[in-house]
Amino acid sequence: MKRLSTLVDGFLVLALFSCSTWTVWSSSCCNQINSYEVRPHSVSITEFGAVGDGITLNTIAFQNAIFYLNSFADKGGAKLFVPAGRWLTGSFDLISHLTLWLDNDAVILGSMNSDDWPVVDPLPSYGHGRELPGGRHRSLIYGRNLTDVVITGNNGTIDGQGSIWWNNFWNKTLNYTRPHLVELMNSTGVLISNVTFMNSPFWTIHPVYCSHVTIQNVTIIAPLSSPNTDGINPDSSDNVCIEDCYISTGDDLISIKSGWDGYGISFGRPSTNINIRRLIGKTTSAGIAIGSEMSGGVSEVHAEDIYIFDSHSAIRIKTSPGRGGYVRNVYISNMILVNVDIAIRFTGLYGEHPDDTYDPDALPVIERITIKDVIGEKVKRAGLIQGIKGQNLPDGS
Ligand SMILES: *[C@@H]1O[C@H](CO)[C@@H](O)[C@H](O)[C@H]1NC(C)=O
Ligand SMILES: *[C@@H]1O[C@H](CO)[C@@H](O)[C@H](O)[C@H]1NC(C)=O
Ligand SMILES: *[C@@H]1O[C@H](CO)[C@@H](O)[C@H](O)[C@H]1NC(C)=O
Ligand SMILES: *[C@@H]1O[C@H](CO)[C@@H](O)[C@H](O)[C@H]1NC(C)=O
Ligand SMILES: *[C@@H]1O[C@H](CO)[C@@H](O)[C@H](O)[C@H]1NC(C)=O
Ligand SMILES: *[C@@H]1O[C@H](CO)[C@@H](O)[C@H](O)[C@H]1NC(C)=O
Ligand SMILES: *[C@@H]1O[C@H](CO)[C@@H](O)[C@H](O)[C@H]1NC(C)=O
Repeated sequence: MKRLSTLVDGFLVLALFSCSTWTVWSSSCCNQINSYEVRPHSVSITEFGAVGDGITLNTIAFQNAIFYLNSFADKGGAKLFVPAGRWLTGSFDLISHLTLWLDNDAVILGSMNSDDWPVVDPLPSYGHGRELPGGRHRSLIYGRNLTDVVITGNNGTIDGQGSIWWNNFWNKTLNYTRPHLVELMNSTGVLISNVTFMNSPFWTIHPVYCSHVTIQNVTIIAPLSSPNTDGINPDSSDNVCIEDCYISTGDDLISIKSGWDGYGISFGRPSTNINIRRLIGKTTSAGIAIGSEMSGGVSEVHAEDIYIFDSHSAIRIKTSPGRGGYVRNVYISNMILVNVDIAIRFTGLYGEHPDDTYDPDALPVIERITIKDVIGEKVKRAGLIQGIKGQNLPDGS
């Protein structure tokens, strides 16, 4: 299947080839990054009074720069250049037709004051914050209703300095759900490449209700002991391509989601056509996970050339009664596992509900899961499959 679509004004031309078969792929499955043109306008964050000393708070500088660049959105878009330096900031919003460009040795540092990460509404497909009822802190880099937005550079770093959030989680002093490092919501034509992400307070990159998302050649690092620092969470999103990434974090490297129990069922937006290739990483959790929030459905997941080492599991599907939804048409091939406790793990009784309004009879359907060509060394168990009482185990191979 081949599809071609052109986004607003042709600034980002998408030539999307769904990597849906076992055929030999071209060198990149992320063909949607074919050609986005160089932005005709560019400014440096220093022109807006930012100071890269790691101490000065630059939230206003980022906001002002992006406000200024908004006037170029209909003129080919613009680039915000972040030079070498340590740029401390609170949460700021991206706009359409923007490239955030981090030079080598540029580090965007998340403020360690939680007030700099304002509280926003919970997602409709979750009903509540994921950790606590009510709102949730807004991600450091946030975007909503956008088209054609790029975060890239020459291996600059975005460091969430998440340790205060992890401590607040452990000592139970959080008031709201922790923020992501990057969240893009209801956006299309997203490219994130050639950047390193570190120490996210919570999940690192969270595209939610998005289409045409490419994440290529990124490094994501957080301590193995840090709580829920997932790498990439495509959530109720479609046409997502993740390739050439190295991820080492305290939770799932990639976790595909689509909403939580009744809230996700009624929101009804699935994650579909999710392509992953050339992923390398280690974690105390799973390499590629689906769920546990999958109530809007997850389908057409294709993963190939995966190398997971020193990890708990490689592939994990997590569901629970109450979730409803489905996980179907998942094809995973060519995995190499080294020192992994459980290669393939399905968990049907994961638990964790937003509240007690969930319908225990809403059983998830798991079907057509294909995993082939897996080679392992020091793998303690090949599989551990736990179903749900009253439901058939998945067909598959
Ligand atoms: C999503 O974004 C589009 C385009 O900006 C907008 O028209 C639409 O209302 C947004 N929907 C939601 C649910 O935010
Ligand atoms: C996004 O679109 C929704 C629905 O139209 C609207 O309520 C919201 O204010 C928009 N948000 C932004 C940041 O544009
Ligand atoms: C990946 O990123 C690094 C650093 O940003 C760069 O040197 C390298 O060329 C990139 N590789 C690809 C395939 O884009
Ligand atoms: C990119 O930067 C990170 C953090 O500084 C470093 O660990 C990684 O090796 C760099 N990658 C490349 C390809 O230069
Ligand atoms: C919880 O952790 C935070 C962040 O490290 C710290 O400021 C706070 O004092 C801790 N609270 C308790 C009750 O330990
Ligand atoms: C939680 O609220 C209390 C009381 O307003 C405040 O002192 C504390 O800093 C807040 N904790 C976080 C992590 O924001
Ligand atoms: C990543 O960086 C490499 C080396 O500079 C460059 O060739 C490549 O086009 C970049 N990739 C993207 C998707 O920006």
